[in-house]
Amino acid sequence: MNYPKEDSIVLLYDKKKGKKHIINLKDINNAYSTSNGTIKKDAILQTEFGKAIKTHLDYEYILLSATLNDFIMKKLNRLTQIVYPKDAAYIIFRLDIKPGDTVLESGVGSGAMSAVFAQILGENGKLISYERREEFVKNASKNLRRFNLDKIVEIKHKDIKDGFDEKDVDAIFIDVKEPWLYLGKTVESLKCGKTLGVLVPTINQVSLVLKAFENLPVLDIDVSEILHRFWKTNAERLRPLDVMSAHTAFLIFARKVCL
Ligand SMILES: C[S@@+](CC[C@H](N)C(=O)[O-])C[C@H]1O[C@@H](n2cnc3c(N)ncnc32)[C@H](O)[C@@H]1O
Repeated sequence: MNYPKEDSIVLLYDKKKGKKHIINLKDINNAYSTSNGTIKKDAILQTEFGKAIKTHLDYEYILLSATLNDFIMKKLNRLTQIVYPKDAAYIIFRLDIKPGDTVLESGVGSGAMSAVFAQILGENGKLISYERREEFVKNASKNLRRFNLDKIVEIKHKDIKDGFDEKDVDAIFIDVKEPWLYLGKTVESLKCGKTLGVLVPTINQVSLVLKAFENLPVLDIDVSEILHRFWKTNAERLRPLDVMSAHTAFLIFARKVCL
């Protein structure tokens, strides 16, 4: 049996409108209000995930648990560009992130990528994220708290121009405007043999990162982008959606060597 807990993040799915309400149960007192009526918190706690639940006006929602994808795409308060799920999943895989690892990141931005790292790292892992703008530190902290991931992430309100305090970490991910300025000091914090990932939106920036790599102890460099096309879900009229996010970012990966 799979029921929500006091701090579960649940999703009320409106089948008629295809709309999603995402709620952290620890943030509501007695009831949750929708435009179709209210639902008591106790009723949510007593409903199994996957079952229907009704408001006091008899309007039906389906109770699901909110995934990190739901949270990032629907609930995260965005003050910056974010790393999209299609890129985040590949970044995790290429950086070879495992539960219990220690990972460095900059900047925290809105905390989208931090949330993905935190979910994989788990309570025995640690993400330390450097961010130079205080308003982004505050907003990202709030976002991570809303998805119960704040304990795994330490956000330092610091510029990475002087490098990172931590050494010998398992992976580093850099998503800042001018990464090439910081890569020398950044690589110093990585364990030998481990992977550095850099995300930039333009190909001009890719060029500058590759030039910076020429003077650094890294090899096995690659550059890629990920295209993700959604399709209509009408079984009789199968075709891609008209509109697509054609470009989000270029991803660059390299391994540190200690010869
Ligand atoms: C595009 S956002 C990062 C988005 C984030 N990866 C996410 O998924 O939400 C870039 C962030 O890097 C921060 N930043 C830029 N240069 C920095 C530096 N030198 N040191 C620390 N943070 C920096 C910016 O303030 C901004 O918050």
